[in-house]
Parts: sequence; C-alpha cells; structure tokens
Amino acid sequence: MAPHALDRHIALVGFMGAGKSARGRELAERLGRRFVDVDRKIEADAGASIPQLFAGSGGEMAFRLRECRTVLDALSTADPAVIALGGGAVTNRQVRDALREQACTLLVEVDVEQAWERVRGTDRPLAQDEAEFRERYERRRPLYDEVADGRGSDLEGLVLAAAGIHLEAGALERLGELVPGNGPVEIAADAHVAGIYGMEAQLALGARVRGLHELPPGEDAKSFGTLERLWRELRLDRQGTLVALGGGTTTDAAGFAAATWLRGIDWVAVPTTLVGQVDAAIGGKTAIDLPGGKNLVGAFHWPIRTVIDPALLDTLPDDELANGRAELVKTGLLAGELLWELPLPDAVRRSAAFKAAICLRDPHDRAERAQLNLGHTFAHALEAAADFALPHGRAVALGLLAALRLSGLDTAVVDEQLRPEPVSVDRDRAWAALARDKKAEDGVPKLVLLDAPGTPRLGVELPPEEIRAALDSLIAG
Ligand SMILES: NC(=O)c1ccc[n+]([C@@H]2O[C@H](COP(=O)([O-])OP(=O)(O)OC[C@H]3O[C@@H](n4cnc5c(N)ncnc54)[C@H](O)[C@@H]3O)[C@@H](O)[C@H]2O)c1
Repeated sequence: MAPHALDRHIALVGFMGAGKSARGRELAERLGRRFVDVDRKIEADAGASIPQLFAGSGGEMAFRLRECRTVLDALSTADPAVIALGGGAVTNRQVRDALREQACTLLVEVDVEQAWERVRGTDRPLAQDEAEFRERYERRRPLYDEVADGRGSDLEGLVLAAAGIHLEAGALERLGELVPGNGPVEIAADAHVAGIYGMEAQLALGARVRGLHELPPGEDAKSFGTLERLWRELRLDRQGTLVALGGGTTTDAAGFAAATWLRGIDWVAVPTTLVGQVDAAIGGKTAIDLPGGKNLVGAFHWPIRTVIDPALLDTLPDDELANGRAELVKTGLLAGELLWELPLPDAVRRSAAFKAAICLRDPHDRAERAQLNLGHTFAHALEAAADFALPHGRAVALGLLAALRLSGLDTAVVDEQLRPEPVSVDRDRAWAALARDKKAEDGVPKLVLLDAPGTPRLGVELPPEEIRAALDSLIAG
C-alpha cells in the first residue's frame, strides 16, 4: 500500500481504452520521470505485435507470462518511473502482489461505453465482440479496485492521486475510508474548526478514533508549548495515524508532531482553509516557529493522504479566503494560467495539482520548488517588520507586486485581484528582515522573478539598491 508516489514507481492500471499509454506519457513528463509502456516493451522484446503474440503458440497464456515478467522487471528498477500496464495484467496474482508492494498504483478510470467507442474496430484481440468486452469490463473491475491506491481520469487527477491527494466535495464524510490502514487514529484540530467539523470527522472515522486534541487557532498552534502539550497527550503507537484538521497552522504543527512522534508516524492532512487546500497541506513541509523566526524547526514528512473537501471553505471568513486568493494568484502567475478566473473548486484543483507536481519533482526543496517563493521574500520581510500583525494575504499581494515590478511585467492582475495597499512598517526593520531571508546569501536575497507568466526565473541577484527601492515602494509614508 503506497498512497502516494514519493520515491516510488507509479503503476497505471485500467481497462483497455482508458488511455493509460497517453496519460502515462503525459504524467511521466509532468513529473520528470521515465515512462515504461509495458505493451510496447513486450512487443519490442518479442519482435511481434500483441495480436501476433495472442495468435501465436501458447496464445493468451503465453502472452500473460511475458507480461508478468515485463511488469516485475519494470517494478524492480530503482529509479522511480511511470509504468503503464496492459488492461489484463492485474488478472495475474503475482502482478497484483508486486503492485501492492512496489508501486503507487493508480486506476485510470473510464466507463465501459467510452472504452468500447475508443477500441471498437481496432485489431485489439480482446475488443472484437461487444458483449464479451462488457462482460470482461465487469469481471476486471474488482481487480482494479483491489490494487488501486488512487484514481483519476485526466492528467490533473492523476497528478493529485500520485501526491496522495483526494479532492472531492463532501470528502469529510468519507474520512473513514480515506485514512489508509485500519490502525488507531487521533485527531489534532484547530479548536475553532473542531467546533464546526470535529464531530463530523469523528463520526466518519468511527471506532478507529482514540481522541481529539485541540490546537489553538492561528499561529499559536505552531509554538513549542503547543507541540509539547500535543506530544504529552498522544497515545498512538507506530501503527497509528494522526489526522490534522484545520488550516496551514494546524497541518504544519500536527505534521511536525507526526514527523517526530516515535521518530515518525503516518499522518493525514485535512485542510480547511483555502491556503491549506492550495498550498500548506501539500508537499510535506511541516514546521513550528521559534521566537527568532517562523518555520525554523521542522521536517519534510509527506502526509500519507491529503483530503481536500472544498465544501469546508463555506464557513471560512472572507479575510481568510483573501489570504488564499493571494496564493491562487501566485500559482496562476507561476503556471501561466488565469486560475483566479475559475470557480473556486476548479481553481483549488488546478492549483493543488500544480504544487503537487512541483513537490513530487523536488520534494526536498533543492531546486525548482523555490519558485513557490514568488513574492514571498518581500512578504516575509513586511510581516516580520509588522511583528506578524499583517494578514499574510496582504503581505503576499504586496510581495507579488514587487516581484512583477522587478520582472518588468504588468501588475494589473495583482492590482485588480488583490488590491494591495502599502503598509506602515519601519523601513529599516523590513530591510533587515529581508537580508535575513532563508534564501539570502551574504545578506543579498536571491529572488524569484518571472520572464513571463508561466516562466519563472530562480535565484535572481539584483543590486541591493534596486531591491531596497522595490521594498520601499510597498511601505506607506
Ligand atoms: N507547509 C507549507 O508548505 C506551508 C505553505 C504555506 C503556508 N504555510 C503555513 O500556513 C499557515 C497559515 O495557514 P492558514 O492561512 O490556513 O491559517 P490558519 O491555520 O491560522 O487558519 C486561519 C483561521 O481560519 C480559521 N479556520 C480554518 N478553517 C476554517 C473553516 N473551514 N471555517 C471557519 N474558520 C476556519 C482558523 O480557526 C483560523 O482562525 C502559516 O503558518 C504558514 O507558515 C505552510
């Protein structure tokens, strides 16, 4: 069971006509992985087409043996790949066992009508008779369900599933099925969110729930005192799972508790803010704050599943939604897509998939993940100079404005969508905070800028006077 594909092969299974080869190639490209198409590999190794192999000596049985060998070979390679299996490969128990142990297996979904439309009239040996085709579809269905760790029908859905993300309105009600395994579960919830959704979460988890720990709302959740209290209260053994229910502060703190409790246990993130759903609960960064700065102590600890239920945003106050919208604009600028124009659930899906793909490619923030910092160098400096009394969304809006100006790009999107207003903070304090940025070298920050929307440029060094002028332009008075 591997609910996400970090450091693991992704095996795509599904009925013929689901599009495993096409989706598999796209997914491999999106995640920067090798692509193995098992059917094409069998044909290349045998020097014969699949219809020829079916018609040759040994018929389908001999083909299935070749197929099993090819799948096991592909799964035994070290470098995580995307492997598209033929539709019938899962009929072999050895293949199913290997998938369970060695891969994150994703079902490429297709309904029988669509599958038949796509394959009828081709030379596929098992797609010659419609009644037989439909009967085979029904027979195979439970086998796909048995091996699938996640499912999707388009590229975005498969990227989300590869990251262990389940996104569905109403998903909270199904939390019991969505928390992998059957061991005990404890919940760490934002105290305010617990009052709204805590009961529903506990009911959904049923007999597995052993307790709910309330964390203070907001940044106080990420204090050492809160973490210590949570450590003292936890009773989970190594088979247990900690469920984090709340915004980014809750998932950061509870994720760090899970990373450190008994040297690391599984955790599931259930983000309840827009910031959490498009950003904080994705990618495995967990942390608490110290008096000297935010996120100074933490760990990379990928949640075994992230359950995103956009319906939970219905109760989110407008100013918290505004914080998330600033992150949506950032993601849209990085992706080169008008994400802010989409209805919220669609924007959440696209934005979550965009971040998930970057984090799967660069899980430990050593390279391209730095792009997610667009605008944040300035935002963090302003927040620090305001003693963190400045709403994060407002700080990010200003940071994006500075990043666009320094990139020489039009700022209309940020102006119209986020209406950034200069803040009253001490200019020298903001400048000192900017020079202390984690990404700074010798006091000179390395910036993320854009050559154009969709084309970020990382590690940009500019003359300090230019950066200071950009920072000063964000400060009132
Ligand atoms: N780990 C990461 O990759 C990452 C990325 C971005 C941000 N973060 C962190 O996320 C934190 C900010 O997260 P946030 O913006 O979600 O803030 P938050 O967790 O403080 O939540 C904001 C407020 O919204 C309330 N709330 C949450 N969900 C609600 C709901 N559904 N209905 C009503 N009220 C609700 C909370 O009680 C809280 O008062 C920061 O600490 C930041 O460092 C982490």
